[in-house]
Amino acid sequence: DTVAWDAEETGKSGYDHFMLKEIHEQPRALRQCLRGRVDELGAAVDIEDLGDLSPTGVQFVACGTSYHAALYGAQLYRRAGIPAQTFLASEYATAPPPIGDALVVGVTQSGETADTLSALREARHRGARTMAVTNTVGSTAARECDHALYIRAGPEIGVAASKTFASQLAALNLLALGTAPVDRPRETIAGLRDLPGQVQALLDDSRASAVAEQYQDAGAYFFVGRGHQYPVALEGALKMKEITYKHAEGFAAGELKHGPLALVTDDTPVFAVVVGDGEQARKTVGNVKEVEARDAPVVAVTDGRSDVERYADEVLEIPETHPEAAAVLANVQLQLVSYYTAKGLGRSIDKPRNLAKSVTVE
Ligand code: G6P
Repeated sequence: DTVAWDAEETGKSGYDHFMLKEIHEQPRALRQCLRGRVDELGAAVDIEDLGDLSPTGVQFVACGTSYHAALYGAQLYRRAGIPAQTFLASEYATAPPPIGDALVVGVTQSGETADTLSALREARHRGARTMAVTNTVGSTAARECDHALYIRAGPEIGVAASKTFASQLAALNLLALGTAPVDRPRETIAGLRDLPGQVQALLDDSRASAVAEQYQDAGAYFFVGRGHQYPVALEGALKMKEITYKHAEGFAAGELKHGPLALVTDDTPVFAVVVGDGEQARKTVGNVKEVEARDAPVVAVTDGRSDVERYADEVLEIPETHPEAAAVLANVQLQLVSYYTAKGLGRSIDKPRNLAKSVTVE
């Protein structure tokens, strides 16, 4: 007797797609990223190859999903009082910023993205110290940069990045903790430590597939967030367009009223990421009221600490945690919404049309 055996199907370990498998691998990937690098008692991180790096400025360069992680990384540095900027790698050389003695960090899962390599080379050419934050040991970025920080997510097969984004956010927290005077490091570290378990709990109990089904015929999707949740909104929209082929856009919540609101109708669900009960959350809830008043369906991705649920048609819950860590959790809910929307529409989820996992031309 022979048993039909398909290497590709076996690789998916029972999941319908690599993307779903990789979304579910996030707890493990996050544990792997943190393993041996965090000293909770001392509220410190210990990362190989960083030495005593303490940059006076940081410039991030990246593309696609990695660019969204880089936006988040720059926020971490700015909050620690260190000037930090993020550039689309393909734009970096068009008007190169003064580097001074800034560290230039390329965030690149593959370590092979041509635009990112070229921005890093430009920076090196101008005398900068460079670092690769990458998933791929021995990649070109890792070899060419002065420093490499591995995100340790394990191989990612789905063309649209999923688990590597979560691991990039975790690794960038470690990087900031290890090289900058981060405010309340103990809380950030505790937030990171709790993440794998919280992501697992969220995966076990998400309503994302029901939400996806309800809105899968919508005309377009919008995503809004503030602060650390702004890169999450951008990533939510990118994932949606990559795998569903539908129009999706992410905005800073405060920008909605400066134009995008003209696009909002009862056929454009708005996903709003609202974390905590502070000033930022209050302002985003104000923005949500504006879209609700235009009859747009509102899906709140929230820890339930604000009153956003009063204005929401659907709620995707995330556990309460530190705002940095909340970004990872909110993103998991949005990954699942995109995945199930694409599945409902019968899309080629692991290999979307026209896209490549690693783009090696500029
Ligand atoms: C391609 C992939 C994206 C990815 C981007 C950057 O466009 O389709 O998913 O985010 O490249 O890739 P990198 O390997 O540099 O992170």
